[in-house]
This record gives sequence, structure tokens and C-alpha cells, in this order.
Amino acid sequence: MTTITLSGIDKSFGAVRIVRDLNLTVADREFLVLLGPSGCGKTTTMRMVAGLEHPTLGEIAFDGVRINEVPTQRRDVAMVFQNYGLYPHMSVAQNIAYPLKLRGVPAAERERLVARAAERVELTPYLARMPRELSGGQRQRVALARSIVRKPRVFLMDEPLSNLDAKLRVVARAQIKHLAQELEVTTIYVTHDQVEAMTLAHRVAVMRDGVIHQLGAPAEIYNDPADAFVAGFIGNPAMNLVDVEAEGAGVRAEGGLAIALAAPRPGRLTLGARAEDMRIVPASEAHFQAPVYTFELLGEATMATVMVGHTLVAIKAPKDLRLEPDTRIGVRFDPARLFWFDAASGARVRA
Ligand SMILES: Nc1ncnc2c1ncn2[C@@H]1O[C@H](COP(=O)(O)OP(=O)(O)O)[C@@H](O)[C@H]1O
Ligand SMILES: [Mg+2]
Repeated sequence: MTTITLSGIDKSFGAVRIVRDLNLTVADREFLVLLGPSGCGKTTTMRMVAGLEHPTLGEIAFDGVRINEVPTQRRDVAMVFQNYGLYPHMSVAQNIAYPLKLRGVPAAERERLVARAAERVELTPYLARMPRELSGGQRQRVALARSIVRKPRVFLMDEPLSNLDAKLRVVARAQIKHLAQELEVTTIYVTHDQVEAMTLAHRVAVMRDGVIHQLGAPAEIYNDPADAFVAGFIGNPAMNLVDVEAEGAGVRAEGGLAIALAAPRPGRLTLGARAEDMRIVPASEAHFQAPVYTFELLGEATMATVMVGHTLVAIKAPKDLRLEPDTRIGVRFDPARLFWFDAASGARVRA
């Protein structure tokens, strides 16, 4: 049972403010993902929860009890880092056993717990090996096994999959999700990969420049982004975002392209639509027309891109469609799946 509360957390290194008035509660047994671009302050935030960094301002509490002054080793957190941090001179078994040894767990009990953790991540055949004799994926699993060998109050994982190739990452992601469901320990998982965030999280905190832009369930963040940053960060491809000027009954994009959509208010706005919420249609039904810039086969679908001003706009299309570059196509938005943002601030403008 552990609820983590961050209240009014600020962190500066010298004069540089890295985390800004961050407020976040991670519920007991929740899997919370801190998602944001590189350098936004995710690792720093996680390290503050671990006690490896100290907030400049604000309070960190576990179950309502302030832990700012509690040293790392007494916070009962288990961590998995991006570079795994394995001890090169120890075998797999010794690496996994290390947290138990630190806590003075007797040898026989250690052996039993190591065997169980290794089994959970399919490392049983490798227990006698040294880290250098393992593949990247196996090393990642050793780090994971070491973190789960005892049940901590809190799991902290910092980009644990980022050193794996794409195929392995999908497998390892499923394994972490499965483990998390089994272990039921409050977890903060840090990543810059929105797919990892969407697939693993109960809730995602989308962060930029030390500020949480939105906190919500994956579907909420995908379907109801709070601002243009979140909209453009989530989804593959990211949401199309086009700067427009609303005038009269329609809007005009940079370069003069007319789009037959009624904006929620006049002035400079950013229009957002996901590739899967747009269709290629005959000119008579189109909101705008443009020549095909590229056309890609994805297997289960195709992707046409057109240039609107200087912005590439991607439209997902049926898998059997074939289009030549420069062909003029009509594009239609799903009006129920359109988003508007203030062009200057990025704030959502609701219709
Ligand atoms: N110990 C430190 N001293 C000075 N600057 C740091 C230190 N740790 C991190 N930073 C800076 O803080 C910012 C956020 O870093 P970090 O939390 O690692 O970001 P993320 O994990 O989101 O990529 C970066 O600009 C980084 O250079
Ligand atoms: Mg980091």
C-alpha cells in the first residue's frame, strides 16, 4: 500500500529551473507513466522520488508521510535504469540477489527468491552467466529481476526499454505489463516513447519543460488532448496540426489554402486532426484539396501526405488504395474528431 504525493515540487540546478511547481498523486498500485521529450525533467522527478535528488521546494510523501529527509535506502523503492546498472563482476544470480544481501536476507531464502524472480523473467538458464555473456534483452531482464526480487513499496523505472531494438522492446513491454499486473506495486515509469506510455499506463502525465501538461488515462489523452503539445506528442503519426487564420465561414492555411471548416472563433488558430480521422473523398465532398506529396504502403493501411503551407498533413487511407505523387485529392475531416487550439499559447479552444 503506497500512495505517492508530490506537492509543489520545484527543482533547480544552479539558476536553471528544471521542474516547476509539480503536483501529482500516484494512487496505490497505480502504474503511472511520466511521458515527455528528452530533457523535460522526467529522470530528475523520478530521482527525487527515489531520494537521489532533493527538491528545491515542495514535499514528497508516501501514504501522506513526508519523506523529503528520508534517505534512499530507507524509502523502500526499487529502481530499473536505462543502462541497467548491473555489476559486471557478479553473475546473474549475484546481481539479482544483491538487494536481498544488502538487507541481510539469509542465503537459503535468497536463493529461493532469486530462483523465483529469474523464473518470472525467463532467466533461469542464465543464472551462472556474467553480464558480459548476455544479450541486451537478457541484461534488461536481469535488471528487472533484481528490482522484483523483493516486494518494494514503490517501483521506479527509467526508460528500461530504450536500449532494446524495436522487436525486443515489444516483447519486453508486454513482460513488464504482465509483471506489473501480478506485483501490484505503485509504479512510476519514465519514458519519451508515447507508445510505451499508452500501452503500459493506468494514467499518463505528459510533461514538457518541467511542467505537466496533462494527466489522464491513455484514452483520455488521445481523445481529448488538453493542448497542442499533448495533441502533437501522442499518436503515431502524431496529430496533424495546421496553423490557420479563421475568417468568415472558413479558415485559410498558410500559403492561402482555403479549408471549408467553421472555426469556433476568429483569429489565429491551430487546427488538429489525426490521420485516421481524415478521409480521401471526391472534390464535391472535400473540406480542402491538395496534391499528393508522398504515398506510403503500411501493410494494414496506406498513408497519403499532402502539403498544407509548410506543414505535412498525413491521411490514413484503405490498404488497397494506390495514388501517384502530385495527384490532386480531396480531403474531408471527421467533424466530431476535429480539435482547435490557440495558435499562440497552444491552449485548447473548445467549439
Ligand atoms: N545534476 C544535474 N546538474 C545540472 N543539470 C542537470 C542535472 N541533472 C539533470 N540536469 C538537467 O536537467 C534537465 C532535465 O534532465 P532530465 O530530468 O534528465 O530529463 P529527462 O529525463 O526528461 O530527459 C536537462 O536539461 C538536464 O541537462
Ligand atoms: Mg531521462
